[in-house]
Amino acid sequence: MKITYFGHSALLATTETHTFLFDPFLSGNPLSEGHVQASDLKPDVVFVTHAHGDHWGDSEEILQRSGALLISNYEICTYLQNKTGYDHFHPMNTGGMAHFDWGKVKQTYARHSSSFPDGTYGGNPNGFILQTADKTLYHAGDTDLFSEMAYIGEDFEIDLAFLPVGDNFTMGIQDAIRAAKMIRAKNVVPVHHNTFPYIVTDLSIWQNAMRAAGMNGIIMKPGESIIL
Ligand code: NI
Ligand code: MN
Repeated sequence: MKITYFGHSALLATTETHTFLFDPFLSGNPLSEGHVQASDLKPDVVFVTHAHGDHWGDSEEILQRSGALLISNYEICTYLQNKTGYDHFHPMNTGGMAHFDWGKVKQTYARHSSSFPDGTYGGNPNGFILQTADKTLYHAGDTDLFSEMAYIGEDFEIDLAFLPVGDNFTMGIQDAIRAAKMIRAKNVVPVHHNTFPYIVTDLSIWQNAMRAAGMNGIIMKPGESIIL
């Protein structure tokens, strides 16, 4: 599986058969600028963790152009349907698992809020666990630490987790290290940092704390790819 990071919480996971796009905030994202444009992407599946503009982002344009399957909460799916008529979506809610021909998806809890940029109620915020034939990813969305992360660690063998570390709107470094210990992922990529002044973060502190705890932290630069 190839993972490409676009900055903030936006990333693309590509397998031999499918492309999965998460939280495609690209237009107006100072970190993704120069690396990717929404019009470059033609995913098969788009995951949206919650309705905030820095996650919903370019979803509407990308979905309508690509015809991708939207996987999100019911309120976000029906927001798009009511607005545009787009009906290629699979609504979920917290704790649910769904099975697809390309893998399994669990919609996880996230301790945050969720409303669209226009103020429309966006349901509850979430994260996603994506299990394909050979890899398991956990995109935590925007969240504080929550104790049930320990169950995620017990129930799934996560190859790569994306955890917010930027503080202010989500957990910061100390809680993100605690989260990494609880979910026991083989690799962790820090997200939701340095996009805006509110979330400027010294990632070397995170990196050193991960190392000290014996965990594998991978700092990805916007536009960078890794092979899992
Ligand atoms: Ni948010
Ligand atoms: Mn956010």
